[in-house]
Amino acid sequence: MNRAAIVARGLHKSFKGAKGGTQEVLRGIDFEVGQGEVFALLGSNGAGKTTAIRILATLIAADGGTAEVCGFDVARQGRKVRECISLTGQFAAVDDILTGRENLIMMGKLRHIPDPRGEAERQLATFGLTEAADKPLSQYSGGMKRRLDLAMSMIGSPQVVFLDEPTTGLDPQGRQSVWEVVRTMARSGVTVFLTTQYLEEADSLADRIAVLDGGRIAASGSATQLKSLAPPPKLELSFLEEAEMARALKALAGYDAQACGLSLLVSTDGSVRQAAEVLAALESARIAATFAQRPPTLEEAFLFIIGAGSKTDRSPGTGMIDEDPDNGYADGDSDSSYTGENPEFECTDENLEIECTGEDPDSSYTEGDPDNGYAGRSLTHEGALR
Ligand SMILES: Nc1ncnc2c1ncn2[C@@H]1O[C@H](COP(=O)(O)OP(=O)(O)O)[C@@H](O)[C@H]1O
Ligand SMILES: [Mg+2]
Repeated sequence: MNRAAIVARGLHKSFKGAKGGTQEVLRGIDFEVGQGEVFALLGSNGAGKTTAIRILATLIAADGGTAEVCGFDVARQGRKVRECISLTGQFAAVDDILTGRENLIMMGKLRHIPDPRGEAERQLATFGLTEAADKPLSQYSGGMKRRLDLAMSMIGSPQVVFLDEPTTGLDPQGRQSVWEVVRTMARSGVTVFLTTQYLEEADSLADRIAVLDGGRIAASGSATQLKSLAPPPKLELSFLEEAEMARALKALAGYDAQACGLSLLVSTDGSVRQAAEVLAALESARIAATFAQRPPTLEEAFLFIIGAGSKTDRSPGTGMIDEDPDNGYADGDSDSSYTGENPEFECTDENLEIECTGEDPDSSYTEGDPDNGYAGRSLTHEGALR
C-alpha cells in the first residue's frame, strides 16, 4: 500500500437516544486507506457508515480514537483536512434550475479556483456531460444528476473524495454510469472512500472493502478475500428421476447431502479432489446426473460475516484478512467455518480510548455556509446525509 491517505484507529461514537439512552454506533473501528485506493465501507442500513464519514470529514467529533486524513488529524487539524477532501452526500446536491455547466461554474466560483469556466468544461468532458451541459437539471436523469454531483466534487482537485452511498436510488443504468465515473476518479489518482449497501458495487469498484457490523469492522480485504470467508460452495447434482436420486443418496452415504426437488446439494470443502470423489462415486454406481458448483457470491460472504458477528455478540471476532490471508477457512476441512472466536481471526482491537477534543479550534465549518473551507464540495447538502 502507498502512504496512507486515511488512517482510523479505535474510533468510537455514541449518540444520545430520544429517551435518554445511549446508542453506541461505532465501537472501535480501525482501517487504513492507501493513496489512490478505492475503499468501500460496506454495511446494512444504520450500521454507522455515514457516522464514520462524518467523523473523517470533520463534521462531527469522535468520542474516542484517532483519525488522520491526508496526514492531518481530524480532531486537531480540521481546516487542513477540509482543504484536501470533498464530500458527496447520499442525495444529489445539485441545483435543478441551473444547467449542468452553470452548476459546475457556480461550484468553481465558490471554491475560488482560478478558471471556473475552463474547469467546468474539463469536468463536463471527463464525466461525459458535455452534450447535456446546457440543459437545466430538471431534464437530467437520476444517473446524470449523480454524475454531475460527482463532477462537482472533483472541482478544487481534492486528494480524498468521500462518496456516501453514491448510487442509492438509481436504476441499474444510472448505477453503471456512476460506477464508470468513480473509476474515472480513481484513475485520476484521488483516493475514493465510498459507502454502500450494495455488495456488487463494492465488488466492482473497490480495491479493498471493510464490512461494518455491530459497530465494528467485522472483516476487511479484497472482494476475493471476503468471498473466501463464505462457507465452501456446495456441489449441486441434478437428476431426471427420483429413483436415480435415491440411488445417489445411497452412493453418497458418507457425505452431507440435502435433497431439494430433483437435486442434491452436497457439502464439500470446495476442493477439486472432493468434487472428483463425489462424481467418481456416482460414476461407479452408474448414476446419471448433471452437476454444477459455483463460487460464493460477495452477498453470501457478507451475510455469513455479519451472521458470524451477531453470533459472538459482535465482539472482537474480526477477520482482518489483510493481516492473515490464511483466515481460518481450512482447505480440506469440510467442517471449517468462520467463527468470531477463532483466535486466528482476531483483529487486534486495541481500544485506544484517546479522547478527542470536542471543539476543534481550527474548524472553519459552519453548517449552512456554502463556503466552508472544503477543497472540493461545499457541504450545503450535509443535512441530507443519513
Ligand atoms: N446525530 C445523530 N443523533 C442520534 N442518532 C444518530 C445520529 N446520527 C446517526 N444516528 C444513529 O446512528 C446509527 C447509524 O447511523 P448512520 O451512520 O447514518 O448509518 P448508515 O449510514 O450506515 O446507514 C443509526 O441508528 C442512526 O439513527
Ligand atoms: Mg448512511
